[in-house]
Amino acid sequence: MQPSHSPTALKRVTVLISGRGSNLIALYEHRKGYEITCVISNNRDAKGVSWARNLEIPCRILERSEYQSLKAFKSALLEAVIESDPQIVCLAGLMVVLQPEFVNRFKGQLINIHPSLLPKFPGLDTHERVLAAREVEHGASVHFVSEGIDTGAIIAQVAVPVCCDSDTAETLAARVLDCEHRLYPWVVSKLSSGEISLGADSRVAISEDARAQAKLAGFRLNC
Ligand code: GRF
Repeated sequence: MQPSHSPTALKRVTVLISGRGSNLIALYEHRKGYEITCVISNNRDAKGVSWARNLEIPCRILERSEYQSLKAFKSALLEAVIESDPQIVCLAGLMVVLQPEFVNRFKGQLINIHPSLLPKFPGLDTHERVLAAREVEHGASVHFVSEGIDTGAIIAQVAVPVCCDSDTAETLAARVLDCEHRLYPWVVSKLSSGEISLGADSRVAISEDARAQAKLAGFRLNC
């Protein structure tokens, strides 16, 4: 029997978004070893959806209001992702907490980007909370997704300084977002080449080459 995906072909990536889609654009613009074969959104008005449609990237919209229950909506979301036949699933600003069934189905293939140096500041409003806590550094993390909110093995992070006296949540968010746009495509390309993977022990495995590249790029690896 033929394998469904050739090992040398570009990896198929499905990206899930709810809004602006700047990480989706960065993933597209810096794609290496992968292609974005589907965008799925729970918000038909998401800017990222119009952007993807302009590029004729297949889009699926599933809004909560179209389903009788949250459970039915989340099951449909999982079905849509399965139908898109991805090898990697990227959460990029998706404002939906995924079911354990989803997380388990795509274990080792499902990653998220979060605007903080996890495990610090999971959840929303990270920039405001970082300023309120007078942290001296902040940043972004890409991690494999587990069942909690912004939990799972951390793959790589990028840190930025916080100027507590002059930063606002907006200036800080912009500084972090710039870094997100470098970090996320890099991680996805390394996942695509197999240089980064999730081991059976739930630890992140990273090749020596990728480690050296991360060091040059200023990314932190937590393993
Ligand atoms: C980013 O800050 C990302 O880290 C977080 O949600 C935001 C999405 O922004 N998970 P965008 O839609 O990619 O512009």
